[in-house]
Amino acid sequence: MRYDIKLKIQFLSAEKEFKTPIAKISASDLLLIRLPNLDKEEIKISSENASKSKLYKICQISRYLSTISEPKEIVFLGPLHLLPYIYSVIDKKFQFKELVAIKLVEVNRNNSFLPNEHIGLIIFSSRRGSFNEVRTPYQYCKCCKRTVKDYGSKTYLLRKDGTRISDVWKDISINVNDVFPEKIISRVKALLSPVQKMTVISLMNEEYCHKFILEELDNKLLNKICPQTLPIKSIRGTARGDILINGNALEVFKKIPDNTVDFALVDPPYNLAIKYGKFTDNMSEEDYLTWCKSWLDQIFRTLKKDGIFTLVNIPKWSLELFPYLQQRMNFQGWIVWDAWGYPSKRIIPAHYPILCFSKGSKINTFNYKSLSEFKSGIEFDDIFYPLDYGYCIRSSCMNKRTTKMKKDRRDLSDLWTDIHRIRHNSFRYNHPTLMPQKLAKRIISVLTKPEDVVLDCFNGVGTTTLVAGKLSRKYVGIEINRSYYETSLSRHRLLSEGKDPFEKTRAKSTSKNKWYHLVKHQKYSIPKKVLQLDVKTLATKLGHCPTKSELRKHGKYPIKYYYDNFRDWAEITVATRRTGLIKRR
Ligand SMILES: C[S@@+](CC[C@H](N)C(=O)[O-])C[C@H]1O[C@@H](n2cnc3c(N)ncnc32)[C@H](O)[C@@H]1O
Ligand SMILES: [Zn+2]
Repeated sequence: MRYDIKLKIQFLSAEKEFKTPIAKISASDLLLIRLPNLDKEEIKISSENASKSKLYKICQISRYLSTISEPKEIVFLGPLHLLPYIYSVIDKKFQFKELVAIKLVEVNRNNSFLPNEHIGLIIFSSRRGSFNEVRTPYQYCKCCKRTVKDYGSKTYLLRKDGTRISDVWKDISINVNDVFPEKIISRVKALLSPVQKMTVISLMNEEYCHKFILEELDNKLLNKICPQTLPIKSIRGTARGDILINGNALEVFKKIPDNTVDFALVDPPYNLAIKYGKFTDNMSEEDYLTWCKSWLDQIFRTLKKDGIFTLVNIPKWSLELFPYLQQRMNFQGWIVWDAWGYPSKRIIPAHYPILCFSKGSKINTFNYKSLSEFKSGIEFDDIFYPLDYGYCIRSSCMNKRTTKMKKDRRDLSDLWTDIHRIRHNSFRYNHPTLMPQKLAKRIISVLTKPEDVVLDCFNGVGTTTLVAGKLSRKYVGIEINRSYYETSLSRHRLLSEGKDPFEKTRAKSTSKNKWYHLVKHQKYSIPKKVLQLDVKTLATKLGHCPTKSELRKHGKYPIKYYYDNFRDWAEITVATRRTGLIKRR
């Protein structure tokens, strides 16, 4: 393939914009590329028109830039729905590192789906190693003045320089039409430094992109943008609603007739080696994706002609599966669910994409701020008026705000930050990756109507089907694990008896949704906090962090407690390196 390299390329230095030949770009160690804001119609392409599409052109240029240059990192900024295509064409020397959702200053309401409030950033790197630590100040609740995120009794372990950033950037926000947003440039630089030379290129200008037109058609690239899909065997019949089935989804689908499901909400295993009873999800990447495509095909087949599908997954698999889905169905919207993660990595993994597709060209049911089932009240608000930024979810504070009639809500957009992951054991059923009830409720309320058939082929302990039942939808739930299936049955029984299957269970959970290493749960005779603060007190007295023998000699408690209760010395002494948080400002 030959490329016309006699191009002028926009280059942004720290001081001003100027033009530079391509050789200069290839000498940079960090490349930040601003993609154009293609809308969802512009990524709707078929194999016939693909080679003429803007999408194809952008993919070609992006890949070209990744092949000609030798940067250590290459970063793209643009609409989230464009990033899966960049992911699929980027040169193999780069590895995918991170997908970030960035809050927009202004919500775009000219959208046939939920108003758009985010833009995406994808980071690839050709080197090993992780990001630099970038911290951002804690956010404090506008009402109770405590941290918006509830750290429980762990505030003594926090730091005065703030918290690590997550993969949802709400602390810096940009305008959708910003070409070279300064805040993003400096954050990317801080994350990836040392950067000797950074080049920022904008592909927003179409004329400028035209200069990149390439001479030959790259069929491999086209296949990635328009992946082949195979015809699916059809099954005749009519469907029954309100059933729960214990079995392998792929087997059970063989009995579900074509065009019978109104809505599918699917929260599949994420291939993160989580143990779901006997089923462990640790396939090879290739096997996992092939497996996903086989049940995605079945969802497509069983959906009615105007059926809707939402997929909840981690960013990597959402990026991988997006072009395949787009090839079969019509993309409607990309919801970012900020689930507030744990600081297990330099960039806290906090978000899950919720991809929404329809089998027909439009979505027929779209209850945006108008659901006659809930006239008003908390339930209606929770669905259509989420908590505004800067308010906590502590029930004491929420009650106070309700009494004082404080306006703490905003309009629903496609950035959901008010639903936290289920952490407390008292609300848990014995399942490692429970979906919060509120999440299922919002999705089902907005995208279905009473009597619709709602399907979840990875139903776990029944969150989807229970919410569907509660909202008078019909449901079909499939779950491979016998024990989860039985839990879902008994919870549905509670529902039919008029009880709440989501009320506090106070059950002892043996599995949690943490996939990183944890010390085995145990009862401590002396709380960990007391031990860690004792080490801190000793450090203050000594004027340095104690050694093991100093702790043995001067510590208040026998050394055995420290060794039994913590993973390593770093954890024993962590409080000595932390300032602790002053709760109220
Ligand atoms: C992410 S969890 C879903 C949790 C569910 N949303 C809830 O809140 O309970 C995925 C579920 O898929 C189930 N599963 C895995 N492979 C399956 C298969 N082939 N067929 C049906 N279910 C399967 C697992 O046992 C697990 O319960
Ligand atoms: Zn508060």
